[in-house]
Amino acid sequence: MPVLGIIAALHHEIASLLQAMGPDIKIHNIGQRAYHEGTLMGQPCVIVLSRVGKVAAAATTVTLIREFKVNSILFTGLAGSINNDVKIGDVVVATQLLQYDLNAAPLFPRYQVPLLGKSHFDTDSKLTEQLKSSVQGYLQHDMNNDIHPQVLDTFKLQQPQWHAGIIISGDCFVSNATHASQLQQDLPDALCVEMEGASVAQICHEYEVPFAIARVISDKADGSAHTDFNAFLEQVARHYSAGILKRFLSLN
Ligand code: ADE
Repeated sequence: MPVLGIIAALHHEIASLLQAMGPDIKIHNIGQRAYHEGTLMGQPCVIVLSRVGKVAAAATTVTLIREFKVNSILFTGLAGSINNDVKIGDVVVATQLLQYDLNAAPLFPRYQVPLLGKSHFDTDSKLTEQLKSSVQGYLQHDMNNDIHPQVLDTFKLQQPQWHAGIIISGDCFVSNATHASQLQQDLPDALCVEMEGASVAQICHEYEVPFAIARVISDKADGSAHTDFNAFLEQVARHYSAGILKRFLSLN
């Protein structure tokens, strides 16, 4: 049976999935990361915490592909919105990813990965459709049962929406409105900003491994981003990630 690799940058995002994995779990420590091999809802999986940033995520992705021979990869985590229509609590499913901090101009066009000739990396269309359905289902049917009404109220999570589009990645936690609007101006199609997705996308492209990425919006990449991020991570993120992934696995 095909093996699915699941990556998250932070522990809260995969805590419930690791619990759900059951007793047949095998832990492999490679390059200071713990790869949890087992089954989730009958699906062989390897779950791993990449830690934060593009290098960490790229190294983790290579290990999943080369050591564990995963057949596809899913990344879930949080992101900051840089689009006025994308609100805290919404979910963005990536159709393409780009490294916004990659700039070898004038040798190569801005954003292009030198010698690879690409700046935008497409997600796998089949996995992305499956992920969209899982997100839609979670937002419509599960989240109100999963998350305490008081928490829903605190974060104003009344009717969160899902979006599909471009996610941009860079090695910076964007917590300044000027930086956020610069990104918005430079890349007007981008919906949100995070620190890993485009590096996972580049490695998956190079190894021809299909992948999909979903990001829950925790903040608006402005002056309140770090307070919003921490509160969202502790109180909301674990529910979303686990709920979306459980739905995803049930569609397999
Ligand atoms: N992940 C969640 N929020 C983020 C932000 N504001 N910048 C970068 N990565 C993020």
